[in-house]
Amino acid sequence: MKHAIRIAGQEGVFWCDENDSILSGLMKSNSRGIQFGCRGGGCGVCKVQILSGSFETRCMSGSQVTAVDRQENKLLACRVYPRSNIELIVIGKVIKRCQSAA
Ligand code: FES
Repeated sequence: MKHAIRIAGQEGVFWCDENDSILSGLMKSNSRGIQFGCRGGGCGVCKVQILSGSFETRCMSGSQVTAVDRQENKLLACRVYPRSNIELIVIGKVIKRCQSAA
């Protein structure tokens, strides 16, 4: 079963199967809006806050998601599986890229 995922501040939704993480659903639908790194719950780049909807989570790094984060639904999109339509905001790390010397 697929659910509509809405990223606050962006137009439209993308659809995510219950068997896919929100990040996987985003990628499969060729949508954008959530940065990512490891895709395995370790780096924290894909951190989002779930504003509404129900979901299940899989194992994610305790150094990236604290107990307080969990209480506030601040979770890693690569480890969250939707069980209803979801609205979220993106709060992930900004990826710093190396700059080449000029
Ligand atoms: S992409 Fe690294 S924690 Fe989700």
